Amino acid sequence: MSDHFKTAFADGVLTLTFARPEKKNALTNAMYRAWADAMEAAASDKAVRAILINAEGDAFTSGNDIMDFAQFAAGAALFGEMQVARVLKALAYAEKPLVAAVQGLAVGVGTTMLLHCDVAIVAEDAKLSTPFVNLALVPEAASSLLLPQHVGTKRAYAMFALGDALTGRQAADLGLATAALPKEAVAEAARQAAHRLALQPAAALAATKRLMRDAEAIAALMDKEGALFTHQLQSAEAREAFAAFLERRPPNFAAFG
Ligand code: COA
Repeated sequence: MSDHFKTAFADGVLTLTFARPEKKNALTNAMYRAWADAMEAAASDKAVRAILINAEGDAFTSGNDIMDFAQFAAGAALFGEMQVARVLKALAYAEKPLVAAVQGLAVGVGTTMLLHCDVAIVAEDAKLSTPFVNLALVPEAASSLLLPQHVGTKRAYAMFALGDALTGRQAADLGLATAALPKEAVAEAARQAAHRLALQPAAALAATKRLMRDAEAIAALMDKEGALFTHQLQSAEAREAFAAFLERRPPNFAAFG
């Protein structure tokens, strides 16, 4: 269990909390491991009837920890050891209701995971972005298909290619979020949504989800994206992007064709 990832269980609801607010809840490999462990255990635990994902602090998450990316790019970590793939598969195959409570920044996987949540309550002023290309990376979590379906191809391209953000209000208007609320109201609304779902008949909920999404197709797309993502992670342009972030300077991609 990571210190930066908390779990709590009450009344059929498993709550998973990103707890690294001093780093805007950037997700480390240890956090992904704890997240995957919790999701995998919940899948076969009849007591868990809904899963609520939330975060401490003023940001939901700033996405994958860029130091972790840099270590992988430098060859110091093996991709097979990266736990994010386990989390993504658990999201793809989840049959229990997933509810997210989003405040502040939701970067990268912080936004793409919402494509797998059944209920996403966001703050009106939340900032949702998927700046994969800014880091010389590619979309993940089946977002290359699912984000355009939600927000339209042109807007999805601007989000992927340029890092353009959506507000929480825009996300709700486009159907990427269930509701956009004043930020003070988000946690309670998400808690209530999870508790309402926990009281519903679990088998019918699971069957409904199976009808609404093709988990096998989503997982297959995640694998395809994952191969390209891994390739790009090891590229010279990605090394430049990670170095620029860590050195707090703009990247310069001019040297890379
Ligand atoms: N990985 C590692 N560290 C991160 C991080 C990330 N994804 N996001 C934020 N941090 C760290 C910062 O380095 C900083 O650490 P420090 O206090 O030791 O210097 C701390 O969290 C606070 O972030 P800071 O950048 O000072 O806050 P900000 O409000 O000015 O900006 C962000 C917040 C999220 C806009 C900015 O940090 C950012 O762009 N992060 C990278 C987002 C990203 O590209 N994620 C990957 C997506 S695939």
